[in-house]
Amino acid sequence: MSGSDVVIHKGLENIIITETTLSYIDGEKGILYYAGYPIEDLAKYSTFEEVCFLLWYNRLPKRKELDDLKKNLIENADIPWEIVDFMKKTPKNAHPMDIMKTAVSALGPYDPELEDNSKEANIRKAIRLQAKVGTITAYIYRIKEGLDIIPPSRRLGYAENFLYMMFGKEPDKLSSRIIDVALILHAEHELPASTTAALTTISTLSDIYSAIVSGIAALKGPLHGGANEKALEMLKEIKTPERAEEYIKKALAEKKRIMGFGHRVYKAYDPRARIFKEYFRKLCEQKNEWTMYQTAEKVEEVMINLLGKKGIFPNIDFYSGAVYDMLGIPSYLFTPMFAMARTSGWTAHVIEYLQDNRLIRPRAHYIGQLDLKYIPIEQRE
Ligand code: SDX
Repeated sequence: MSGSDVVIHKGLENIIITETTLSYIDGEKGILYYAGYPIEDLAKYSTFEEVCFLLWYNRLPKRKELDDLKKNLIENADIPWEIVDFMKKTPKNAHPMDIMKTAVSALGPYDPELEDNSKEANIRKAIRLQAKVGTITAYIYRIKEGLDIIPPSRRLGYAENFLYMMFGKEPDKLSSRIIDVALILHAEHELPASTTAALTTISTLSDIYSAIVSGIAALKGPLHGGANEKALEMLKEIKTPERAEEYIKKALAEKKRIMGFGHRVYKAYDPRARIFKEYFRKLCEQKNEWTMYQTAEKVEEVMINLLGKKGIFPNIDFYSGAVYDMLGIPSYLFTPMFAMARTSGWTAHVIEYLQDNRLIRPRAHYIGQLDLKYIPIEQRE
């Protein structure tokens, strides 16, 4: 490619690489659909298992189909003891996303259909993977806290089972519903960096486990998956609504990024943040604790006043961390929970992309020297 006709799309910004029926985002209006259904309706009426079915089969399930999927997820929730043993032996300071990435990678060889990239086999593997990433996430917590692991229940739903494996008791209705909705809100979002990484991997006809490992690796970064942990740290540092304006103005003056705000696609309020905020309010009401909610609202007000005109609004990560914190979930588990939910979207995109696969191989514009003369090392001093 010669210099004159080169246009560089840094970060592949606004570059469309495929067609999808899995999700539609209108960034200007702050609108999100999964396979044709508004995210608000799915958050209000659906369950995470039903959203998994919707993403894998591109339609809502009939009652028996949903019951069969729930049973399938429960039956496949255990992970091989060798992988649990590995997880227990990782260094204490290991990053949870590194533990998750390695555990998922180690699952591959246990799957008899690993190398079968047919749609049917990949859906079966997606179900087995989805079942296991919830268990892996809960086990990361138990092991990090020095607690015995609690194997998955044989009768609880996905979100309830996750909280049960974490805390050893059946969760209350509000906590279960909040985790169920959190998983729905994090399930799918078109082609963020992590899904693009998964598609790049599968486009070489690698396998679905490797593609999910690529997704987890990309999601670890604070510009993508790690932001809710940092947003919560910020709210705790600000402490009260009265301190919010000064804190934000100082951070912006120092050219810092305010975590939980801004988005490559949304230039309006992220609809997922709005739903999370509503559950944050419900939790604060239940616990009659309002300081962090009021602080977050003040940060939101200041940020929108200052940067709203630049299209910078709260994104999904601004309220999610505060909600998880109120449920007693430690911040190191936030991004693994994001990966646990997004395994549904990653696997759905992998299955969809393979129906019309094209090796992903962009170009780079060469700006180096050419035709240099090779000098033997003896003459290079
Ligand atoms: C997720 O893509 C997805 O769909 C991701 C996700 C999903 O569901 O998969 O939605 C999940 O990753 C949500 C985003 C979580 N990350 C954060 O909250 C980190 C903070 N946000 C920013 O770093 C930023 O908004 C990005 C990375 C999310 C998007 O940034 P872009 O599109 O690359 O925008 P940019 O860096 O070009 O910024 C444009 C301008 C800059 O100012 P100028 O140089 O033009 O003066 O906006 C400013 C930026 O400084 N800006 C911010 C800001 N985000 C952008 N300024 C302060 N705080 C911010 N958060």
